Amino acid sequence: MSQASSAPVDLRSDTFTTPDAAMRRVMAEAEVGDDVWGEDPSVHRLEEEMARRLGKESAVFVPSGTMGNLSALAAQTVPGDEVIVDSQSHMVLNEAGGAGAVAGVMLHTIEAPGGVPSPQQVTAALREANIHHPVSRLLWLENTHGNRAATAASVEAMGAAASAAHAGGIRVHCDGARLFNAAIALEVDAASLVQGCDTVSVCLSKGLGAPVGSVVSGDAGCIDGVRLWRKRLGGGMRQAGILAAAGSYALQHNVQRLADDHANAAMLAAELRATPGVTVVAVPVPTNMVMFDTPMPGVEATRAAAMHGVLLSPVGQFRLRCVTHKDVDTAAVRRAAGALSALFGGMVAAAR
Ligand SMILES: Cc1ncc(COP(=O)(O)O)c(C=O)c1O
Repeated sequence: MSQASSAPVDLRSDTFTTPDAAMRRVMAEAEVGDDVWGEDPSVHRLEEEMARRLGKESAVFVPSGTMGNLSALAAQTVPGDEVIVDSQSHMVLNEAGGAGAVAGVMLHTIEAPGGVPSPQQVTAALREANIHHPVSRLLWLENTHGNRAATAASVEAMGAAASAAHAGGIRVHCDGARLFNAAIALEVDAASLVQGCDTVSVCLSKGLGAPVGSVVSGDAGCIDGVRLWRKRLGGGMRQAGILAAAGSYALQHNVQRLADDHANAAMLAAELRATPGVTVVAVPVPTNMVMFDTPMPGVEATRAAAMHGVLLSPVGQFRLRCVTHKDVDTAAVRRAAGALSALFGGMVAAAR
């Protein structure tokens, strides 16, 4: 989509993508049924397609990434179990405490600055069987990892962590909200990234551009459990094929183009790196998020950027985040880069 040059460039999140005309057409024409009764053919098609792409036996369509994660978590644990998870994971920081409030699990947080813990970290975090200990039950991975600069963890790193978990007798879930960003950035197929994961949740409503929905994939028995939790959480939807059709369209048309978002993020990062006073957090930028620090407090800087025509998000005291996506083309990202560079570079020059 091309943006008028007077409109603000919205880089707050790839969740702001809207369904385009072609996607809306397939939604309008979708064959539907009652999906709670298992009778929606468009939902079946989406679930089969996602399972096939990820090399899994089965899949279930859920309304959101948060519900996909929580359903998968609850289906693979019992209250009091422990989940080994990076302290900066979306599940820990950004899912309203559902792990504790609903699944009743303990979070054993570890530090994985590279996005995925090493096998040694996983092994060290496993609890010995002992009447005093919680039971280690699940390793939680996230790829790409949003709060770790949207890092894409490699096939090898994912496989090594999963193998260590399985050797310790525990299962593995991947929050793959942006798994296809990782696959495209690493030039591997998505299935290879999650080969060692028992369950995987993938969002359709982020860079893939669908309006709603995620899909959880895994072995058939476990997915039956996820489906039960989806119902329990109120996520059973009736003629959901209208939404699933958008998801299928997104998988067919919007995966390869994620490379454009990554190229736009790299271009924005290069401009910011050349701006005095600005520090880009992860270089090269791994996927579609650019994190950077400026001398201005984040909330103030966000307001100033908006006045210069760029919408972005504060993610730390002095840290800002720009996310590139389908609805912001290269020309608009270039315009945003110029505006941010003028704003922050100008501030540093004025302070001299
Ligand atoms: C890594 C990650 N996991 C899960 C989610 C949750 O997805 P939703 O907003 O659809 O609940 C998000 C949302 O941004 C995310 O970034």
